[in-house]
Amino acid sequence: MDLAHIHLLLNHFPTIGYIIGGGLFLLSLISKSDDLKRASLVILLGISLITIPAYMSGNGAQDAIKSLPGVSKSLIEAHEGAALVGFGFMEVTGAFAWLGLWQFRRLARVPSWNLAIILVLTVVSLGLMTRASNMGGEIRHAEIRAGQETTPGSGIPDPQPDPALARTVGAFVTDTRWMWPTCETLHFIGLSLLLGVVLLVDLRVLGVLKGVSFAALHRLLPLAAIGFGVNVTTGVLFFVGIPGQYIHNASFYWKVALVMLAGLNALYFTVLEEPWALGPKEDAPLTAKIAAVSAMVLWIGVLYCGSMLPFLGNAF
Ligand code: HEM
Repeated sequence: MDLAHIHLLLNHFPTIGYIIGGGLFLLSLISKSDDLKRASLVILLGISLITIPAYMSGNGAQDAIKSLPGVSKSLIEAHEGAALVGFGFMEVTGAFAWLGLWQFRRLARVPSWNLAIILVLTVVSLGLMTRASNMGGEIRHAEIRAGQETTPGSGIPDPQPDPALARTVGAFVTDTRWMWPTCETLHFIGLSLLLGVVLLVDLRVLGVLKGVSFAALHRLLPLAAIGFGVNVTTGVLFFVGIPGQYIHNASFYWKVALVMLAGLNALYFTVLEEPWALGPKEDAPLTAKIAAVSAMVLWIGVLYCGSMLPFLGNAF
């Protein structure tokens, strides 16, 4: 199985997932059901996470099929650009969905301003991603392309005009002197924020800092979420800048896989009540302790694989 297969496996998750998650979210607003609201926010957040490998596997698919007869570079780049825009909107939607879940625990409801933002962003993201997916289908399905000119010699119609947005962003990241070092610095700050909060929560769950209440720690979670958001953004900018140095890099695959698992682990602390219902001096339940140890192992794994990109893989 190569990256083209992984892309074909993952690339329908964003649109189908958002149709299901968005539909349930709308239903929860109409029926005023809090349980349905929470379930739909979990789906929107989970799909936003899966969209990260879905996006990244696309460049691997490009590498696998770019020299096949009849495959048009400009069609692929137009699809890549459209996917980047849809991806950006889906990640922002996921961030607001996470905020909604956090607000549920803290305020026992999601404020109406956030519900409105999630609804609008879900509809816009779904529209943009459906357009990107349709363009992805056109790469190998001549029968769904219509009314376009043909690349001389190939028999393949090109999109008119060719925006190639992702390549423009990529060139900006690599060709602007301050851009890569700035992203590296922000990536490090994001990581410190995220790991700082994760370690505090995990150590408390394991019985260290017993005087601190879980309610106090719960207030710090948005800082971890901001750190995660900064790192997804800067990480994607690195990837869009030089996809070639990551798509054949084993360390990179492990890193993305571990980020996905750590995201699942974070859902436990975001959605479930049990670790947060405890006061100072109280002991956390065993499931929370298992989640805490696995969070530490996963995030240290992410750190390790990130540092090993040039050594175990071929980056830089
Ligand atoms: C989350 C973002 C993305 C989504 C939702 C997406 C979706 C899709 C879809 C639906 C297809 C058509 C599959 C089919 O023919 O059945 C496709 C194909 C393709 N996509 Fe993407 N895509 C994304 C990102 C990317 C990126 C960043 C690239 C990089 C250039 C890319 C490159 C390709 C290529 C080369 C194909 C043709 C694969 C083949 O037919 O073997 N995609 N994509």
